[in-house]
Amino acid sequence: MLYKFNIVLLLLVSLFLCSTNAKIIDGAKHSIRQFPKGFLFGTATASYQVEGAWDSDGKAENIWDYLTHNDPCRIKDCSNGDIANDSYNKYKRDVEMMRELGLDFYRFSLSWSRILPTSFPDKINEAGVQYYNNLIDELLKYNIEPIVTLYHWDLPQKLQELGGWTNPHIVDWYVDYARIIFENFGDRVKYWITMNEPREICYQGYGDTTMAPALNIKGIGEYLCAKNLLVAHAKVYRIYEEEFKPKYGGLIGITLSGSWTEPESEKYAEAADDVIQFEIGIYAHPIFSEAGDFPPIMKEKVAKKSATQGFYRSRLPEFTKEEIEMIRGSSDFFGLNHYSSNVAYKNESINFFDEPSSNDDLGVASYKSPDWSSSASSWLKSVPWGFYKLLKYITNNYNDPNIIITENGFSTYGGLEDDDRITYFRDYLDAMLDAIEDGCNVTAYTAWSLMDNFEWMQGYVERFGLYEVDYSSPDLTRTPRKSAFVYKNIISTRSLNHHYEPDTTVMSIDEGH
Ligand code: NOJ
Repeated sequence: MLYKFNIVLLLLVSLFLCSTNAKIIDGAKHSIRQFPKGFLFGTATASYQVEGAWDSDGKAENIWDYLTHNDPCRIKDCSNGDIANDSYNKYKRDVEMMRELGLDFYRFSLSWSRILPTSFPDKINEAGVQYYNNLIDELLKYNIEPIVTLYHWDLPQKLQELGGWTNPHIVDWYVDYARIIFENFGDRVKYWITMNEPREICYQGYGDTTMAPALNIKGIGEYLCAKNLLVAHAKVYRIYEEEFKPKYGGLIGITLSGSWTEPESEKYAEAADDVIQFEIGIYAHPIFSEAGDFPPIMKEKVAKKSATQGFYRSRLPEFTKEEIEMIRGSSDFFGLNHYSSNVAYKNESINFFDEPSSNDDLGVASYKSPDWSSSASSWLKSVPWGFYKLLKYITNNYNDPNIIITENGFSTYGGLEDDDRITYFRDYLDAMLDAIEDGCNVTAYTAWSLMDNFEWMQGYVERFGLYEVDYSSPDLTRTPRKSAFVYKNIISTRSLNHHYEPDTTVMSIDEGH
């Protein structure tokens, strides 16, 4: 009798655990979860962060070369990407690591100033093209699908001097560059990403000092950048769609960064949604919503503030009707870089800045809960349920797109025993599986990063790699961390087991890779 009672109790408890999403995350930890059939796994890097060879074989200067050479100690350890991981010369070792992990795909980016040293199509640098041909061919030789980002933050310095993303002519410059890329690599690359994280490009680079070109022209620079970037992205999408897709049949989309914003309490629900509109909606609404254009709340808020501040027009530029149409639907998938979450509250007495700024336009403050576990990066705390909520939000608000997680990862200060990173990956993958079970169309996952690399303003201090890079060794030796063994197991078993303990003594390439 007691035995039967226990079984009923157990059933009731498991039913209860499965009835709330938060609980699923805890409840699943004792079980092994399978990934859906056809789900793909990869890792990512970006040109400036790993290539090095900053002026080799005809490459010209980009905005990160310029910033790190002219103001070295703006970077935490006064370092730069001159050599970085020397992937320009060590790409074969990089691909070997991907084979060790058993990756389905590798996401990397192209350096505009390596391919077009004048920034324009008048001179194509054959050595630069050759480097990417070699990398692509090496990947394909081992059945690793290349996912190629056209622009991951390293704008040619000359274009910056012409105004960069605030100059509307950049649309033509970017289109010319993209056309050369498609002509040279389109026969072998089937997945394209036009831009990596427009928000960080515009908000941090033009509206702040935390990314190159560090212009800090708040409330104006980031909005001009956003408009031109969206038009440039969409034009390239349309060109690929018309001229290259019929020949090559690839997919092309954009990668947006997105944190989840949780209201501090129910009364801040609208405020939290406003944050999401300013951070994600600014790019997602024009591309993925039914109506297109910037989010209505954003247009309203910026116009209102601009008027009270004495501007003659809204600081948020307008799209033409044709531009709205061209941008609407201009992505074959929703590329999402997700790392963390924030809590939002509203306090009318907060005076954000004396001058106009997008934070002031938004008028909502946010913070990270001290209860969330920390990484080496101040902006990155582990909040797996935020990932679940964001995936649901994207599915519900942007027409159930095919979501590709183009980045997710955790920073440490180095060391091979990276249990905190393993816990982060497992918890986030669990949350993602919950979202998939609850109807989100997530089809691929990318761990950031294959290996440690130049982490922008943080130099080589904050480490994101599955492989540790020894920057003091002449070979820039890459060594698998414990997390590399765990990720390898996830990929080979296509399942998530929180209790798997890897044997970290030997890393080898499995048959078929
Ligand atoms: C997003 C960026 O795309 C990547 O370049 C960066 O290293 C990671 N986040 C970690 O900060």
